[in-house]
Amino acid sequence: MKGLVKSLNNIKGTTRVCGLIGNPVGHSISPVIHNTLADLMGIDLVYTTFKVEDDQVEAAVKGAYALDILGMNVTVPHKQAVMGYLKEIDPLAEAIGAVNTLARVDGGYKGYNTDILGLARELEEENVCIKDNPVLIIGAGGAARAIAFLCASRGASSVTVINRTVEKAQNIAGAVNGYYGIDLVKAVSIDQALDLKGDGYVAIQTTSVGLYPDVDNVLIKDENFYRKVGAGVDIIYNPYTTRFMKILGEQGKPAYNGLKMLLYQGVAAFEIWNNCSVSKDMADRVYESMKEAMGINE
Ligand code: ATR
Repeated sequence: MKGLVKSLNNIKGTTRVCGLIGNPVGHSISPVIHNTLADLMGIDLVYTTFKVEDDQVEAAVKGAYALDILGMNVTVPHKQAVMGYLKEIDPLAEAIGAVNTLARVDGGYKGYNTDILGLARELEEENVCIKDNPVLIIGAGGAARAIAFLCASRGASSVTVINRTVEKAQNIAGAVNGYYGIDLVKAVSIDQALDLKGDGYVAIQTTSVGLYPDVDNVLIKDENFYRKVGAGVDIIYNPYTTRFMKILGEQGKPAYNGLKMLLYQGVAAFEIWNNCSVSKDMADRVYESMKEAMGINE
């Protein structure tokens, strides 16, 4: 982590501070993303983590503002709670109901959801097109909800949320359809998903099934399901190639993990804080630093 060491040696009286609030935060890769970006772009900024207890979220946000902290990322378990203490909230983040980035504005912070901007940028980079395409979202947790809003906002031709607990998928469908006043999102059980008609689906895997150490597992095992998929994204990045991605790969379909989503959620936050634009070349270099820090050799 050469970049990180260089940043720490360069801290001066003018250095702006950004950081991550959450609990726990010690495992976070975000310091590598932001300190590498600051080094590469010659921006006088340092990024660290702040462990914040549940009953201290308001104090943390107000204290950060008082200390002139430029921007914050927010992670589990505070992505909803933080919304109560902001000056403004970006409409997509408001609709999703989760904020992971705070940017300093007059009198407080404005909240954004760059997790979802990160996924959008990964999809763009990999030429996985949401617009006018049918999308399958596997899972119905917080990530799935955000992705359903993204798909509706980017003009997917249909969105099907597949979940073991179908009521949770129905909640997401109701929230997105209600917000946009459309009938785009539908909810199905895993069994019903096996009978879906059509092909060329963009499938986005959002469950924790397949996450290390459960690396040989996948939520939908029937390989016929994957014949209807044109391209897939698994938001898991540990392992680097999940079982979900392997099945698609064996069928000659493109499949991507969630590491670029993680990269680009950071890049998007950095761009908002510093009012700058991070080039593809810079982003690629940050991606290499992340992989090095995480011990990924693929
Ligand atoms: P996040 O907020 O990160 O998206 P979450 O809210 O914990 O995560 O949601 C996890 C998702 O993984 C849910 O869709 C969950 O299914 P249920 O809603 O039925 O619980 C799904 N999931 C996790 N483990 C699962 C398993 N062993 N089998 C089927 N689904 C599973």
